[in-house]
Amino acid sequence: MKRTLTVMALATTATLGLAGGASAQGKMTMYCGVQEEWCQLMVNEFKAKTGIDVAMTRKSSGEIFAQIKAEASNPKGDIWWGGTGDPHLQAAEENLTMAYNSPMMKELHPWSVSQHKTSGGKTVGIYLGALGYGYNSETLKKKGIAAPKCWADLAKPEYKGEVQVANPHASGTAYTFVATLVQLWGEDKAFDFLKKMNENVNQYTKSGAAPAQATGRGETLIGISFLHDVVTPATKGLPVVSVAPCEGTGFEIGSMSIIDGARNVEQAKKFYDWALSADAQALGAKAASFQNPSNKAAPLPKEATKMEEISLIDYDMKKYGSSAERTRLLSKWDAEIKATK
Ligand code: G6P
Repeated sequence: MKRTLTVMALATTATLGLAGGASAQGKMTMYCGVQEEWCQLMVNEFKAKTGIDVAMTRKSSGEIFAQIKAEASNPKGDIWWGGTGDPHLQAAEENLTMAYNSPMMKELHPWSVSQHKTSGGKTVGIYLGALGYGYNSETLKKKGIAAPKCWADLAKPEYKGEVQVANPHASGTAYTFVATLVQLWGEDKAFDFLKKMNENVNQYTKSGAAPAQATGRGETLIGISFLHDVVTPATKGLPVVSVAPCEGTGFEIGSMSIIDGARNVEQAKKFYDWALSADAQALGAKAASFQNPSNKAAPLPKEATKMEEISLIDYDMKKYGSSAERTRLLSKWDAEIKATK
């Protein structure tokens, strides 16, 4: 009896030792495409659960895509978690990421599974976000101008210097904006509008959520971002009002992919499976990120966009996430919009 207890005690110590000692469980590198606070929380919780150490870098979606492409002959990252789906799809097409069938797939919403199918299993939806903008209600009152309601309003002369949006090369949010307008109005009308709106833009930021945050601080009157990013400063008491534009709007399927040639593929798969669980997806709201989660059992935060209440376009993920279309639209944006700034 005494001997059994000793053996059990030793076994328990060994197990605890392993769980606490990260080196025994390994490590991995994550490129994180959401807000820093959420990235950190995911890393900490995953480490607490598995003992796996995660080296994390946060960047915007287009920047992560460019980094993975640049590192393709000698991959340094293992998992790309978060950010808009289009560059994840482009990476899949360019064989920069690998196919994986997680046992968690059955727990996911159809839109998430469809992202997996479109990419030949190389990326999966982790959240949904609808595009829109926010305005600072105090600045609006001070300036005595009308509240914008539509996309078309953002090109009106009364908003000169009052609009902020990210650069679509770096930011998946801004690419979603360009692709949304093209799908709503056709390419000619969309680029005419972007040229006119360019007169009103005070800054093209790197990160897609930055305009929403700047709107909260009153640094810009209007910030184009995902609606859940507009809600975040509002929940912190800042005077930001969300607008789901009257013409209808596009959306993102925030995605996750394992990098092709990952050195720590087993750890990356563990992260992937865990990140698709309802528990892991409940962490977003704890970090003030209010997307719609892809696991059907994950709670929908009360601050999240009610997708059924807004008019969403039938965003063509396959086309706008294709290498040819994304590359072409970005070059066109450079030639017609950036060149004039
Ligand atoms: C924010 C949003 C995410 C989105 C991401 C895209 O973090 O909360 O839903 O996927 O921005 O970032 P980017 O900087 O590439 O526009």
